[in-house]
Amino acid sequence: MLVGKKPYRTVWWERGTVKLVDQNLLPFSFRIASCKTFRETARAIENMTVRGAPAIGAAAGFAMAQAVLAGKTKEGEKLIKSTRPTAVDLFHAVERVANADDALEEAQTIADESAEACERIGKLGEKLCGARILTHCNAGWLACVDWGTALAPIYMRHRHGKRVFVYVDETRPRSQGARLTAWELRNEGVAHAIIADNAAAYFMKRGEIDCVFVGADRIAKNGDFANKIGTLEKAICAREFNVPFYVCAPSSTFDRKCANGDKIRIEERDEGEVLYQRGLCDDGKIRRVRVCSPKSHARNPAFDVTPAKLVTAYVTERGVFRSF
Ligand code: MRU
Repeated sequence: MLVGKKPYRTVWWERGTVKLVDQNLLPFSFRIASCKTFRETARAIENMTVRGAPAIGAAAGFAMAQAVLAGKTKEGEKLIKSTRPTAVDLFHAVERVANADDALEEAQTIADESAEACERIGKLGEKLCGARILTHCNAGWLACVDWGTALAPIYMRHRHGKRVFVYVDETRPRSQGARLTAWELRNEGVAHAIIADNAAAYFMKRGEIDCVFVGADRIAKNGDFANKIGTLEKAICAREFNVPFYVCAPSSTFDRKCANGDKIRIEERDEGEVLYQRGLCDDGKIRRVRVCSPKSHARNPAFDVTPAKLVTAYVTERGVFRSF
C-alpha cells in the first residue's frame, strides 16, 4: 500500500530489526516502530503495535528468526507463543521458522506468501463483492503484510473503477474499524461511513448492505471461525436479512488440528480497554478518558466464534469454498 506515495508493508525486516507500522498511534500519526530483539517484537505483538492475524503471523516469524539468530530458539518459541492465543497464523509461523534450515529466509517467505495470498484473495473475492459492503474490525492492509483479507476484494473493485461504499463497524472496545479501517479506506480513496457497532441490522433491514466481508483469526476444521468480537452478531443479522456473508482468509488461518469452534481459545483482554478510550482532544493532545460509570467493572472478550452454517463462502488464495 502507498502511504504518502511511498510503498509500505506493515511488517518487514531491516538488518536484524523488525519494523512495524505502529497501529497504536493510528489514525493520528503514522510512525514506524523498530524492534531490535525477539523480546521487543513479542512485546509489540502483545501490546498490539502490530495486530491482525496474518500481520502477527509475519511479525511472529521475524521475531522467531531474531530468537534463532540470538541462539535462543526455545526461549523465543515459548515467549512468542504466549503473546496472543487466538490467531493461529502466529503459531504456524513460529513453528515454521523454528524448524527451518534458514530461519530468516523462512520468515521472509512467510511474509511474502502472506502478501501474495491476500492479493489473490482480492482477485477471487472481487467477483463476489457488491457495491455496498459491511465490514467488521480491521481486516485490511494493516492486519496483513499487504492488501488485507476482507478489504482486498474491495480495493480490487475500487481499483477497477467500480462503485464501492463501505459501512465500517466501529468495533468497540479498541475501535479497529473506526481507527484503522477508516484510515486505510481514506488513504485509498474508498467511500465509506463509520457506523456504531449496533447499527448494522438497521442498514441491512433497509436493504442498504449488499454483502458482508470479514476476516478470521482461526478457522476450525468444520468451518466455524473466530474473529473480532461482534462478528457473530453480524453473521446472525446477515442470515436474518438474506445478506451474503463472506469470510476471507489465507491458508495460514486454517487450523486443521482444531475440530470445531468450541475448541478455539478466546483471548480475554484487560477491562481498561472497555472502560477507557484514547482519542484526540480539541486542544490537539491525545488523552485517555474514562467512558463508563466510575465504579463499574467490565468484561472484554476479544473474539467470538461464528458457526459455519452462517457463512455463505470462504475466500482463500486457493479458491472460493461454499461449504466444508
Ligand atoms: O485483536 P485484533 O485487532 O488482532 O483482531 C483482528 C481481527 O479480528 C481481524 O478481523 C482478523 O485478524 C482478520 S485480519 C486479516
